[in-house]
Amino acid sequence: MLEFIDVSVCFHSGTADEKMALDHVSLRIEDGDFICVLGTNGAGKSTLLNVISGAIPVTSGKILLDGEDITHLPEHKRARAIGRLFQDPLKGTAPNMTIEENLGLAYSRGKRAGFHRAIKKKDRRFFIEKLSALHLGLEERLKTKVGLLSGGQRQALTLLMATIVTPKLLLLDEHTAALDPKTAASIMEISEEIIKQHQITTLMITHNISQALLYGNKTIILNEGKIVKVLEKEERKQTSVEDLLAMYDFV
Ligand SMILES: Nc1ncnc2c1ncn2[C@@H]1O[C@H](COP(=O)(O)OP(=O)(O)OP(=O)(O)O)[C@@H](O)[C@H]1O
Ligand SMILES: [Mg+2]
Repeated sequence: MLEFIDVSVCFHSGTADEKMALDHVSLRIEDGDFICVLGTNGAGKSTLLNVISGAIPVTSGKILLDGEDITHLPEHKRARAIGRLFQDPLKGTAPNMTIEENLGLAYSRGKRAGFHRAIKKKDRRFFIEKLSALHLGLEERLKTKVGLLSGGQRQALTLLMATIVTPKLLLLDEHTAALDPKTAASIMEISEEIIKQHQITTLMITHNISQALLYGNKTIILNEGKIVKVLEKEERKQTSVEDLLAMYDFV
């Protein structure tokens, strides 16, 4: 469904700072895939997600979504199909708006009436049902400004917003890295639940090697802009955390 054909991203081309952040990457992501992306700092992981969302243009190569060439489609036109979460819980929500206003915005993204549609009773019931599933008590705080929430609560809300209209693709860039261990575990659990329930095709960047083997159905390792390993099926099952660590040493 999402296909990378020989995609390269070169920053500061032709200067002393030239950097091949992605180096001729070809990759096929099937519907329902949940791919964990590993790699050392600067390997090109965020760049990979950035070219999918359209935040960064490719230097060469092609990206196809469901067979359609989206290589040059602007970011805002991809936003309806792609949900995204960052490491920073402050990104992705509007702090001066309430929980229900934030959810209303995310919800109207998929609707024709668009941006200024008023929140109806039915919507509110739907939001309460969705928020209850997070088990954070946010369903009782619909009128609370999002800026007053903790990082974990905010990240959970961002996750809900990114998936309230089921996206074709969900991009998670170390989305639990800034949270305390207990909150991180709970956000990861909620993420997996939502992804499984709606069978959302997902790419998740993590530095947690055991997580990269535990979640999803594929693990890829990036190094210096190249995919150096794809683990799936039996090979993935047979791979231990120690094996993966050794691959890290190797790259
Ligand atoms: N907008 C940019 N302009 C210039 N160079 C960039 C830009 N974005 C990324 N780079 C460079 O491209 C390379 C890959 O960066 P990227 O952010 O994709 O790494 P990463 O794998 O996500 O690393 P980390 O684990 O630290 O988040 C790095 O050398 C980085 O400095
Ligand atoms: Mg990154």
